[in-house]
Amino acid sequence: MSLSQIARTVCASPTLKLNEKAAILREKGDPVIHLGGGEPKSRAPMDAIIAAAANLNSGEIRYTPADGIPALKKAVIRYTEEFYHRKVSPLNVIASGGAKQAIMVALQAILNPQEEVIFPAPYWVSYPEMAKLCGALGVPALPEDGSFYPTIQDIELRVGSYTKAVIINSPNNPSGAMYSEEFIADIVDFCEKRDLYLIMDDIYHRLIFDNRKPISCYDYAKDFSENSKLIVVNGISKQYAMTGFRIGWAVANKKLIEAMTNIQGHQTSGPSVVLQLAAVGALNGIQSSVESLRCTLENNRNVMIDLLKSFEGVKVTKPDGTFYCFADFSSYMKDSNKLSNYLIDKVQVLTVPGAEFGLEGFLRLSYCGSIKDITDGIERMKWALDPNSPNELYIGDRKLVRDWA
Ligand SMILES: Cc1ncc(COP(=O)(O)O)c(C=O)c1O
Repeated sequence: MSLSQIARTVCASPTLKLNEKAAILREKGDPVIHLGGGEPKSRAPMDAIIAAAANLNSGEIRYTPADGIPALKKAVIRYTEEFYHRKVSPLNVIASGGAKQAIMVALQAILNPQEEVIFPAPYWVSYPEMAKLCGALGVPALPEDGSFYPTIQDIELRVGSYTKAVIINSPNNPSGAMYSEEFIADIVDFCEKRDLYLIMDDIYHRLIFDNRKPISCYDYAKDFSENSKLIVVNGISKQYAMTGFRIGWAVANKKLIEAMTNIQGHQTSGPSVVLQLAAVGALNGIQSSVESLRCTLENNRNVMIDLLKSFEGVKVTKPDGTFYCFADFSSYMKDSNKLSNYLIDKVQVLTVPGAEFGLEGFLRLSYCGSIKDITDGIERMKWALDPNSPNELYIGDRKLVRDWA
């Protein structure tokens, strides 16, 4: 079959593949524990459901403007004022089918073939593939000091004549690291001085722990003109547990938003009006679900970290936010794909291999599920990996016998 060059180079999303695998194993009756997931298990806020239901009940479900309905833009403007201390106009806002589409159309609007976009490693699995979809190249910047916290020097080292943009995702998927205010201030300044686009992927910015407060990149910007190359992306998926609603947005200069709207207008048009109205409900409604999710995740993180610390061979950094923990399992197995498959085969625990995020030897473990899934999942992993484990493990009434070294 003759496929385009781009189609031949773009890989399937490993995290979406893993969700399918979990579903298939569950259907077979396997007692799977999915520690690879990327969505909170709480319910969507009632205000979102009511708003969507009211629209559905009207029976008049129509196209929307390609850049989103005015009510959602208004809600995003209010959100930007509250969390970013920045007043923007409707022309600075585009609503998209998830933060994913907002990032994708932003990249399509700024990248030429062969140009480069830098992002700290470990990185979200989609960034390199999104760059490829533009015929461009993703350039990971692994912090030199071996931590999850990049410095400006780590980024600067990768800047060349083809560099067009930097993507910063803090707190970070997969490490959970929230970068310091100093780093955010430096990267905003650096990109302004080097005339680079800076995409802030803030999708987890309210899901942070230990009394941290969300950081606004605008607090450090100097250029508020229509030439500003700062693009802020956010959405409802994670903070409101509304992953299936597929609504995200970008805030940027008017010309760029116009270009992104033109692209989106031919790609998908505006997102579904039902889902945009649900997003308006979530953004303007009672906010207690966000805090309650945040507290649950902080508690889950503490449980997972304590359990992981009991492994002799695991090195773990406490996540500052998100619902992921990125732990170093290389002392058990260097190849993270093999290790992840081994854990599925032996104890039916799903994890995401670190190689997918640009760091071999690590596994991404999610703590967005129940405490029972976290404790049982980690217990099973420990049994499979620790050579001093007892010979048998019970999963319900199923007896597993250790037949490997
Ligand atoms: C870092 C990061 N950015 C963006 C997204 C996409 O979010 P959305 O569901 O709004 O498309 C995800 C989802 O996993 C993510 O982890």
